[in-house]
Amino acid sequence: MSITSIDKNKNTDLVLPRHVVIVMDGNGRWAKKRYMPRSAGHHAGVKATRKTVENCLVNNIKVLTLFAFSSENWKRPEQEVNSLMELFVSALQAEVKELHKQNIKICFIGECSAFSEKLQEKIRQASELTHENTGMVLNIAVSYGGRWDIAQACKIIAEKIVDKKLDVSDINAELLSQYVCLADLPEPDLFIRTGGEKRISNFLIWQLAYTELYFSDVLWPDFDQKELEKAIHWFSGRQRRFGKTGEQLTNLV
Ligand code: FPP
Repeated sequence: MSITSIDKNKNTDLVLPRHVVIVMDGNGRWAKKRYMPRSAGHHAGVKATRKTVENCLVNNIKVLTLFAFSSENWKRPEQEVNSLMELFVSALQAEVKELHKQNIKICFIGECSAFSEKLQEKIRQASELTHENTGMVLNIAVSYGGRWDIAQACKIIAEKIVDKKLDVSDINAELLSQYVCLADLPEPDLFIRTGGEKRISNFLIWQLAYTELYFSDVLWPDFDQKELEKAIHWFSGRQRRFGKTGEQLTNLV
């Protein structure tokens, strides 16, 4: 991937995040406020997801990573899990062709083997169809957990040590970074969580080390272009120090 520096949007002079990650929270509450079943909130959530992909394209975001279903979401009532699975199948069925036309590369992270054969097939088709695309990268995290991610990276490293391809002394943060999910992409610049909760909920916990964290009270189905642009404006005003002092950055010493 050839993204090396933060893009400057010429029209607005904003410092744009290259990689935006989103915890799409609040579907259930959105539905409850309307005396509707939670599944109606998830349906509205899919519409907001589709619009957000468009809005990220408009705003020249290069990588978008969405938390669609966590390792822990399996603990929800069976009926809700089933309705979410059906929704994922129908959303992929309805959207992938258009996303492909827009040159979007769709990738999935997480333990996809936990899903039904039908959903796994949709996931495979979407990944294969869009594999060569060179536009925005859209990562969808499904049955994903940050702790699982770190553990699977450790497992790969351990196997390489057993096979004598790596030595214990090779283990450091840089090496681990090469085996967690999204290793081939720029690290997330901007994390957005909707729905008012201020937590990371086991999403990309390794990758978020230096990400700017933005929390919005808006429920996910109501998250629109204006809300995305608010988050981008906020990001643009952040001073990212990566451990350095503010003086080092402003005086370039
Ligand atoms: C959290 O809201 C949302 C989810 C667990 C599901 C998110 C999924 C979508 C928005 C669909 C996206 C689809 C694709 C194909 C990417 P919640 O149910 O926890 O809301 P609550 O906190 O108000 O109860």
